[in-house]
Amino acid sequence: MSRFWIEDVPRYLNQEISLFGWVNSRRDHGQIIFIDLRDRTGVVQLVFSPEVKEVYDLAQKLRAEWVIEITGKVTQRPQGMENPKLSTGQIEIEVTNLKILSEAKTLPFDISSDGKELSEDLRLKYRYLDLRRERMRKNLIHRFKVIKFIRDYLAERGFVEVETPFLTKSTPEGARDYLVPARLEPGKFYALPQSPQQYKQLLMVAGLEKYFQIARCFRDEDTRGDRQPEFTQLDLEMDFPQQEDILSLIEGMMKEMVETLYPEKKIQTFPFPRLPYQEVMAKYQSDKPDLRLNKDNPQELAFAFVVDFPLFEWKEQEQRFDAVHHPFTRPKFEPGETLSEVIARIKKDPAQPTAQQYDLVLNGFEIGGGSLRIQEPALLEAIFEIMGHTKEAINQKFGHLLEAFSYGAPPHGGIALGLDRILMLLENEPSIREVIAFPKTGDGKDLMMNAPSEVDEKQLKELHLKSFA
Ligand code: AMO
Repeated sequence: MSRFWIEDVPRYLNQEISLFGWVNSRRDHGQIIFIDLRDRTGVVQLVFSPEVKEVYDLAQKLRAEWVIEITGKVTQRPQGMENPKLSTGQIEIEVTNLKILSEAKTLPFDISSDGKELSEDLRLKYRYLDLRRERMRKNLIHRFKVIKFIRDYLAERGFVEVETPFLTKSTPEGARDYLVPARLEPGKFYALPQSPQQYKQLLMVAGLEKYFQIARCFRDEDTRGDRQPEFTQLDLEMDFPQQEDILSLIEGMMKEMVETLYPEKKIQTFPFPRLPYQEVMAKYQSDKPDLRLNKDNPQELAFAFVVDFPLFEWKEQEQRFDAVHHPFTRPKFEPGETLSEVIARIKKDPAQPTAQQYDLVLNGFEIGGGSLRIQEPALLEAIFEIMGHTKEAINQKFGHLLEAFSYGAPPHGGIALGLDRILMLLENEPSIREVIAFPKTGDGKDLMMNAPSEVDEKQLKELHLKSFA
């Protein structure tokens, strides 16, 4: 027997069907017991009358959140008893068979509300219950739809999704790495990727031409409302691009996604404005300005690309230049300038050059960033030198990339969008934790699994580690 979903029940008027689900609520009216049964797709009213005695007696025991299976006939509700608030409000089910599949203790909190009145720690400890609430279920389903939309959109345009490793080498994206000790090489560590940046560039050297990935990234930095230690990017790279090719691909995708999945939202300006970094900083004192004309209207989406970032910034504390985006970002060439001329110009005055780098901002949040890349080994080496790396360090850390670029590397570029932040804004949520199934707390804990946690002495020994706890 195929499974019936509650949202489809009205189609089976006067027919007998079976349903599975949770007891959402129970009301007794005189002799009759009414149960609202819930599954992923909705809620439907079950009616137990004393005429079907055995089933009725069993129904007396039912409490909220018990899991049951029922068989019954779909009938029109009596006139005046319809519930216009429910999509199944015109019908009910006269139950002829009831099976209790699982009983439930009283839940630690109410799941019929939106949950915003509760302490977040409690919600996160019992996340599997918190996710039963309609708001959270909707957020997860919408997240899936957004990701599916992106996959289809890019697949139609010739992009190929490729998975890249989690156990890798530290990439220089500015945050602290999560390290994983290598059992077979005492004293050595893998790093979890801060992004697939180097792998996607190597896929361009491999000739894949158009890559994307719904990629998990790991950064050991302080958690905030729009920051998690692990988060998800739409990561993308293509070869032979002009900067405009990437921007127009992304703005076209975002527009079609909003129109398809969030038709109630309004994109304020299209094409998205391209705003030079210097102008934005002078006008808004921020590189992610909130450009909404009406900030009270939650349906307003003010996208913009911030372009022409400087290539380097001066780090006062470390007394050195650092890449504003990452070291693989391509400087702008002057018209007719040769490679050696660019290198000489950048070395002479690192504060001056502009990068072919862009951010995508939405309503005051940075929701994406990317750049055209350097594929010339000499230029990349010069950038590392300006950042203060010695020749040995460059070779040790980036030798693989420099070598790869010596085997016929195409010009390439890309972008990564922060999917959690995009979902947060589209769902009008105050934090990305509301659109992630199992997020970490502000201090990086998973309260449900109780992670991080101590491990056995034996595990430490195998990894050649000592506990300092
Ligand atoms: P970047 O570091 O700018 O670029 O990251 C891209 C986007 O990812 C989101 N993001 C985060 N979201 C949640 N929690 C975090 N801790 C977090 N950190 C970043 C932001 C950001 O705009 N490899 C490059 C991209 C490229 O050059 O193609 C990169 O990762 O929305």
